[in-house]
Amino acid sequence: MTEIEWWDYDDAAEMAEAVAGDVQFVIESAIDARGSAVVALPGGKTPVAIYDKLARAKLDWKRVTIVPTDERIVPLGDPLSNVTMIAKAFLPKGARVMPVVPNATADYRAAGRSADALMQDLHWPLDLCLLGVGADGHTASIFPGPDYDEALAGPRERRALGVMPDPLPPEAPVARVTLSRQGIVTARALMIAVTGADKRKVVEQAIEQGALSRYPIGRVLADVELPVDIHWAA
Ligand code: 6PG
Repeated sequence: MTEIEWWDYDDAAEMAEAVAGDVQFVIESAIDARGSAVVALPGGKTPVAIYDKLARAKLDWKRVTIVPTDERIVPLGDPLSNVTMIAKAFLPKGARVMPVVPNATADYRAAGRSADALMQDLHWPLDLCLLGVGADGHTASIFPGPDYDEALAGPRERRALGVMPDPLPPEAPVARVTLSRQGIVTARALMIAVTGADKRKVVEQAIEQGALSRYPIGRVLADVELPVDIHWAA
């Protein structure tokens, strides 16, 4: 049974402050313990305010490596690119931000294999995985479609893979590279940040449904062994 704790905030700004503080604490602890930190951060719109706050934290940023939980397969610099958004906040601080899809390619599975190879060079497990959740219940870029089973239950050592969502999500209708469930749930700390009553309902239902959930987030969280903090603002 997954141990889940909800943290509720009055608004997104208050949530951003709190989540940025928690992420800062995890990064500091990892640097103290191991000399460096590796964290996975989501794309999308919700985390922008969190990154804005986090980037102001006094941290030894050059010891911090950031990978996106998922990337849309578009050229770097494209408005849809999650890495570009993350890099904008943290590259100026001196963090290493990993462009997991350095070259947009038509072969999304090959892009996934390259990303997985790049990930092998990192220090695993992740010190932290912060997840966002879409209104359709996807998390990272784990979506229903031809790659769903592999994303949820592929080989243990596969941390990233290419994904073609079916149907394509309207907010970014492109193929993706994503962390696998295995890459996510083996992190030392797992947090989720979501806003809005609709997403809260989706996440609550997904958790209740568990491993057979119709929502990817439910399948990802089912039987997770570490406690999960869910941060939510109206
Ligand atoms: C992606 C994201 C994704 C995101 C959710 C929520 O590229 O699709 O990384 O997993 O966290 O879609 O996005 P919003 O915060 O924009 O609603």
